[in-house]
Amino acid sequence: MQQKQRMKLPNGPKTPRLVQMLQWISSPMKYMEDCTQRYGDIFTLQLTGPVVFVSNPQALQQMLTSDTKEFAAPGEPLFESFLGKHSVITVSGEVHRRQRQLLMPPFHGERMRTYAQVITKVTEEIISQWQIGLPFTVHPAMQAITMRIIMQAVFGLYDSPRAQELEELLTLMLNRAGSSPLRALMIYFPALQKDLGPLTPWRTFLRRRSRVYQLLQEEIQARREQADSSRTDVLSLLIAARDEAGQPMTDAELSDELMTLLVAGHETTATAVTWALYWIHKSPAVREKLLQELDTVSDRSDSSSIVKLPYLNAVCNESLRIYPVGMLTFARVVQQPLSLCGYELEPGTAVMGSIYLTHQREDLYPQPKQFKPERFLERQFSPYEFLPFGGGAKRCIGAAFAQFEMKLILATILSRLELALLDNSDVKPKRRGLVTGPDRPIQMVVSNQRQVESRIPEAISG
Ligand code: HEM
Repeated sequence: MQQKQRMKLPNGPKTPRLVQMLQWISSPMKYMEDCTQRYGDIFTLQLTGPVVFVSNPQALQQMLTSDTKEFAAPGEPLFESFLGKHSVITVSGEVHRRQRQLLMPPFHGERMRTYAQVITKVTEEIISQWQIGLPFTVHPAMQAITMRIIMQAVFGLYDSPRAQELEELLTLMLNRAGSSPLRALMIYFPALQKDLGPLTPWRTFLRRRSRVYQLLQEEIQARREQADSSRTDVLSLLIAARDEAGQPMTDAELSDELMTLLVAGHETTATAVTWALYWIHKSPAVREKLLQELDTVSDRSDSSSIVKLPYLNAVCNESLRIYPVGMLTFARVVQQPLSLCGYELEPGTAVMGSIYLTHQREDLYPQPKQFKPERFLERQFSPYEFLPFGGGAKRCIGAAFAQFEMKLILATILSRLELALLDNSDVKPKRRGLVTGPDRPIQMVVSNQRQVESRIPEAISG
């Protein structure tokens, strides 16, 4: 048991702040694992300031259920240059609560059914470009799928020139953002966000961002002029949404929130499906069991039956457990003196939930490095033991959408194609910008079509 200590931050490495910061940026998972081995369920790292990391379910519960009293969920100013100052991620307090209330209804579980067709159709379109016997890299293919799904389900944009330009620009901005250590550093050190002239990364980013905002404004303007109550895309619903005082979102809020949904929802889901495809094909027994289960659904367009399949659910959960795409919750800040894992914390202390470390706990997940979907069939985990989408006041707004999307993309691919990994050696997790992605490209090959169905795309047979 830890000794109760007065107003002292939990233990942590004594190395200089810059060294800690560099270790944190270059290999966050290893660094967190080393620290938890040395210091236990709670430790402090000196990053841009001291940050307390916790991976104890009781402490996570305390932190994520008492957001308004003991802990506040502040805005993340680091993201302002990317998402704007009206984003749900950068605002705090009452404004944050209002933005969430306006944003959440389109992502409610029931609404998902409206997006099922878009998800399946987009997946079919993209996989129709894969040729039998020709290897492809999984992550960019999944990025293409999730980008187009967001363009259609969230922005309501299909084949217009504006849609095409937006998709191209956003793909360039997002696939590059954070992909190099320099760009990851730029997120943590806003001082590096300097315009050093044409063709430098920051200038290019700003130029693209400004064009994206211009296109978004044009789209919002066009929608306002031709209001169509039958549209079910998220943007149309957000334009129609009213807060408790009957006020709509301003154009500036709408643009920032669209950027936020895109940044938060595109790369995360693409990476999650990439990991799931890797694990399914890495473990033949898992694949076999999953295919058997998928074959029990006679009507492939019946999305509500697909999303209820227990083993598919367990496979998705285990993928999100073993290498959670979001390794941390956003920071919460202590509001009043409180005790956490035996430490007395002062107001102002920043605390982050380590989703990665919690999901690696041997006491919850025996042999945590092994991919075993069965654990999710054998027992129920509390929202503080399994928390791929965080929790409390800042819990992921797109959680239901992301899970629905993951399941339908996987079901569509697996029931139509037989795939194999090109290289069966282990893939490890690595920080890729803001998400936990694979440390090397995962390549697969289509070995065959799985079944003859009228909607099998023709290019596959080539
Ligand atoms: C597998 C995919 C995804 C994962 C693993 C994921 C994970 C997370 C995590 C860990 C957080 C922080 C929660 C906290 O601090 O307690 C978060 C926040 C958020 N996510 Fe997701 N996410 C995913 C997909 C999406 C999608 C598809 C969208 C929207 C289209 C989305 C929108 C957001 C937003 C807006 C926030 C900030 C909420 C706030 O500040 O109040 N996410 N997500």
